[in-house]
Amino acid sequence: MSNPGDIVYLEGQFMERDRARVPITTHAFNYGTGCFEGIRAYWNADKEQLYAIRLREHVQRLLRSARILHLEPDSALDAPRIEAVILELLARNGYRQDAYVRPILYKSGSSIKITMTGIATGFCVYTEPFGDYLDIHKGLSVMISAWRRIDDNAVPARAKPTGAYINAALASDEARARGFDEAILLTGDGHVAEASSSNLFLVQDGVLITPQASDDVLVGITRDCVLEIARRQGAQVVERRVDRSELLAADEVFLSGTGVQVAPITSVDGRRVGDGIMGPMTSRIQQEYLRLVRGETDALAEWRTSVPQAVPTQQATIGK
Ligand SMILES: Cc1ncc(COP(=O)(O)O)c(C=O)c1O
Repeated sequence: MSNPGDIVYLEGQFMERDRARVPITTHAFNYGTGCFEGIRAYWNADKEQLYAIRLREHVQRLLRSARILHLEPDSALDAPRIEAVILELLARNGYRQDAYVRPILYKSGSSIKITMTGIATGFCVYTEPFGDYLDIHKGLSVMISAWRRIDDNAVPARAKPTGAYINAALASDEARARGFDEAILLTGDGHVAEASSSNLFLVQDGVLITPQASDDVLVGITRDCVLEIARRQGAQVVERRVDRSELLAADEVFLSGTGVQVAPITSVDGRRVGDGIMGPMTSRIQQEYLRLVRGETDALAEWRTSVPQAVPTQQATIGK
């Protein structure tokens, strides 16, 4: 029996991870010409059920990224088919623990030419066991990065292009090298955008504020979950332009993302946020988010797609 994550999907076939290889001439390897998603699946031990979170929205964003980037998958590879591949892959890997799913659409043809058109598009998915990526209770110390967030007029900020993550990597490496947990990136004109791979929220006088979508943020799916949870909890929520100094004056600051989940920030550029511990609104939202994604409540069932326990035999070889 293989370990969870050992089976992957590449170019229409489920196969052993070790066999999944692409040639060095692949366009996406040379130029970063792909787009991807990061999706979590949570295991509920009481119900013996794995849930893929907001699967539909992630697949929709993957296909939107593809459209922006001229990635043109085979017409049979539509949203329902991609969702089915992801669910089957999770089922084949037999997860009884939390998992992370990484689907990628990429320029699979071989060409030296710098272009986004006329090159074949490939599709692959792999998964990994995945717990808390950051300590979500301790409180993060962040710095405002010297690197600016990619400008939507340079690299589409509302897509998830593989090559664009050089921006995130440079900023987060800089932060860690200086002893911080994470980096906050500003827009080219100096407003708050987001962290290296998560969205940012602040609380001021009881109002929940997050940078507006047009400030070069990736419009996060967890961001949407947070906004929905906060509204349901009766909070006033505002999406608007956020100034740098607002972060230094906020009562609470936190991050949201598939990876970080909902993670409090307790210091920004060496200044304590609020009381220096997770604030009450962050805590309420974090608790509700974790209950929802693990299926510990029946609310918002549309966010959770149950992963089948066994692979139906007729699905054993899903095509491209
Ligand atoms: C740059 C960036 N911002 C924000 C997010 C958070 O998005 P989501 O909540 O959809 O995971 C991510 C993660 O995908 C990201 O890579």
